[in-house]
Amino acid sequence: MSGLDFCGLALAHRVINASGTFDAIAARRAFGDQVVERFPFAAYVTKTVTLEPRQGNPPPRLWEIAGGLINSIGLPNKGLREFTRSDLPQLAELPAPLIVNVMGSTREHVGELVAAFAAREDVAALELNVSCPNVATGLEFGSDPAELAGLLDHVRPLTDKPLIVKLTPNAGDVAAVARAAEAAGANALSLINTIRGMALAPGSSEPWLGGGTGGVSGPAVRAVALAQVHSVCSAVGVPIIGIGGVQRGSDALDLLHAGTELVAVGTFSG
Ligand SMILES: Cc1cc2nc3c(=O)[nH]c(=O)nc-3n(C[C@H](O)[C@H](O)[C@H](O)COP(=O)(O)O)c2cc1C
Repeated sequence: MSGLDFCGLALAHRVINASGTFDAIAARRAFGDQVVERFPFAAYVTKTVTLEPRQGNPPPRLWEIAGGLINSIGLPNKGLREFTRSDLPQLAELPAPLIVNVMGSTREHVGELVAAFAAREDVAALELNVSCPNVATGLEFGSDPAELAGLLDHVRPLTDKPLIVKLTPNAGDVAAVARAAEAAGANALSLINTIRGMALAPGSSEPWLGGGTGGVSGPAVRAVALAQVHSVCSAVGVPIIGIGGVQRGSDALDLLHAGTELVAVGTFSG
């Protein structure tokens, strides 16, 4: 397959990883340099990075369901400073452009993250994970067009790098949110993130997951992803990254046929 241009990034093909589902540093530690030499993805998307370190949710963090899983990992990460010191140099060795996924609970926090990575030559693009409540309003940034526009108005001037907005599937009207992101300067959109779900501990009325609820992913969400991707592709002109339940080539092709430029692979249920 010949290469392509995605928001100015030269990519070898159309398949990338979904944030948080492939730890390239751990994979290299476990399997050696062949991970780098035969790197499967056209770009590498990091797990979400926040300003401060996060422990994540208490265990248990995973529950398998028919066609996928529910995770309540809770976005554990080292935080901006330690990620930049220890992970970024290792990720910069990958033979693919690096997309750093960031999240914050205020516009200012997201702005600090965007500004920090804007200054790094080893970062090709930023993905904004907007599945997080704005502590100032209580609304998820990605659940409401005005909320998302306000976030982008704040962060867009802080970088010339491509900004990919990762939409939440838990929005009332995802196409309206997508249009707002495009109008406020997003260079690309990615969807879907996980869908809120829960499991009860066997034989009990208590939630199984330490976080109470979690995010559903895998083949179980594929039809939802396709519908949301289809709706967003018809609503905006910026390129779209299709995510959700891709297990095989035909699943990826469905997302491309729906109008996406790229496809991201996450949960694999075998
Ligand atoms: C274990 C796990 C961790 C995830 N971590 C992140 C994350 O850090 N940031 C993010 O934006 N999405 C995260 N996601 C969501 C995925 O990137 C993807 O949007 C979602 O899982 C749907 O794709 P899939 O069905 O191919 O897994 C995570 C998903 C899983 C299953």
